[in-house]
This record gives sequence, structure tokens and C-alpha cells, in this order.
Amino acid sequence: MSWNVFITREIPEEGIAILKRFCQTVEVNPHDRSLTYDELLQQVKGRDAILTMLSDKIDARMIQEAANLKVIANYAVGYDNINVKAATEGGIVVTNAPGVLTDSTADMAWALLFSVTRRIVEGDRLTRTGKFTGWAPMFLLGGDIVEKTLGIIGAGRIGTAMALRSRGWNMKVLYTTYKSRNTILEEDLGAQKADLETLLRESDFISIHTPLSEKTRHMIGTRELSMMKKTAYLINTGRGPVIDEMALVEALRNKQIAGAGLDVYEDEPRLKPGLAELDNVVVAPHLGSATVETRARMSVMAAEDIALVLSKQKPKNCVNPEVFTR
Ligand code: DGY
Repeated sequence: MSWNVFITREIPEEGIAILKRFCQTVEVNPHDRSLTYDELLQQVKGRDAILTMLSDKIDARMIQEAANLKVIANYAVGYDNINVKAATEGGIVVTNAPGVLTDSTADMAWALLFSVTRRIVEGDRLTRTGKFTGWAPMFLLGGDIVEKTLGIIGAGRIGTAMALRSRGWNMKVLYTTYKSRNTILEEDLGAQKADLETLLRESDFISIHTPLSEKTRHMIGTRELSMMKKTAYLINTGRGPVIDEMALVEALRNKQIAGAGLDVYEDEPRLKPGLAELDNVVVAPHLGSATVETRARMSVMAAEDIALVLSKQKPKNCVNPEVFTR
């Protein structure tokens, strides 16, 4: 068969090479930017497969226009950018990239936690601008991490990896999960499952790992932020809209919480007004999975799943398995 694949952004060569061995046409967006909705709409027409980014909105219209499409391989573990229901109705398989980015994203959550708690970015700014005038006993004091309470919202793969890294700091771990229990965390760390309110009230560090859905959109808003300790820090490496970002700006401005470390934003890549002016927040540009090794693994995973679907086999990471029983 003469398969035709479109990749919406340049990805590591490992994945492209797999696709080139298997498909006659493999085209990559030549621009150093995401395509606009209309540009993407033109590109999906006539393709058998598309390899998409979390920033590509694949809605019902896009799916309808892509009459030949058989598979959408999302280059991310989250797939809230895709209308999966419309894809399933259209008989299109949707795949994602779980597991391969667990460690890099958990590392990023810790990097943000350290950066904001020990005021590293603030200190870097002062040092570069010549405002470090010498060691002083009351200069840029942060918070301790050891033996504090870590609250994990969404103890799935990445949340679990984040929590397991707390061993070195002998922390108490609370977690929420939509599943019944996380036995790894309970057995390895003595972690306790908690309801959201208890977790918010008792944790010193709260790290968000829950996927974005209509249920989790604005899960953390004014009310929830007001339940947190004044000394607590909020970390988000999941999806921006899980936090009501304007409510967070207010809470940070009023010192209602101590700080936040963010990798994702409600209107990504834009920040809500006021966020960038605050000193008690570290803002990273969605780098959770951004390591050379992880991005290469993601490209292989997405490409292999495309090849499996096009050769009429089940992909390894299907998010809509019901598509096979329609
Ligand atoms: C994901 O895979 O969902 C991550 O956010 C990518 O960095």
C-alpha cells in the first residue's frame, strides 16, 4: 500500500526513519512553528496517518475533513487536544505516548519544586543583574523540604514516579486517584489516599498530575487555593486548565500560598495577566518531556503505532480501543 503520513512538527529522526521505511510519503511541517488550524486542516486531507502534537487541536471538523485517516498518533501522553469520540465514530484509531516520558516529567516536577522553594530563579535574576552584594543571614530564605508532606493530585504513572522520588527527603505522602488505591505508594512509602480537601489542607507541596477532562478543568480554583497552607507550594506539570490561573495569580499576589512552579498554562503558550510579574512563581515553557532520550523514545513509540495500525494490527498505546469493536 502507498501510505501517506503527515507529522505536524519536526520530531527526532528515530521515529521519522521508522515511518520512512514503512510509508511512501512522510511529510513533516517545514516551519519552525505550529500550523494554524486552517493550515492543518489542509494538511490532513488525503493522509492515512497524522502524528500530532499536544498543541494541535484535532476536532470533529478536522476529523471529518480527513477522509482517508486511519490513525492519529499523539506525541504526548495527554490527548485532551483530540476529540477522541469523533475519531472513534469515524473509525480512526488514536494513540498516545505513555510510560516513556514518566521519569523526565517527574524530574521536571521536582526541578520546579526545588527552584521555587529554594528561590533559585529569583536568585539567578538578582545575581545576573549585580544585586548579589554578598552573603547575608536573611537573604532569599526559602523553605525546607525534608520531612514535609507531599500531596500528589492524580497518582497515575507520573504522579507515582514523582512521589517515589520523595524517599530521599523522608516525606509523608498523601495522594488522590480515580482508581481504588495506589498499592505501590502505600507499600513503598506508607502513602495515604486522601480526599482533595484533606490533601489541600495538609500538604506542604502539592503536585498536579491528573489528566485534563471536563471533571478536572479548574479543579484548583479560589476555594481550593484558600484551603492550602500559607507556606505551601503548588506544582503543575500536567495540564494548565486544571488550575484556574487567574485565581492562582490572586493567591500568589496576596501571599495566600508561598509559591508555585508551573510548566503548563491555561491558555498555553500565553500566561494570564500578572503571572509573569510575580517573584513567587517559577514559569517553565512546557518542558516536562523535553530530554533528548525521552523525545526520541516518544518518536519511536508514535511511529511504531502508526505502522501497526496501517498494517492492520493493534497499536500498543491505543486510547480508544472501542474503535476495534464498532
Ligand atoms: C505530555 O506528554 O502530555 C506532556 O505534557 C508532553 O510534554
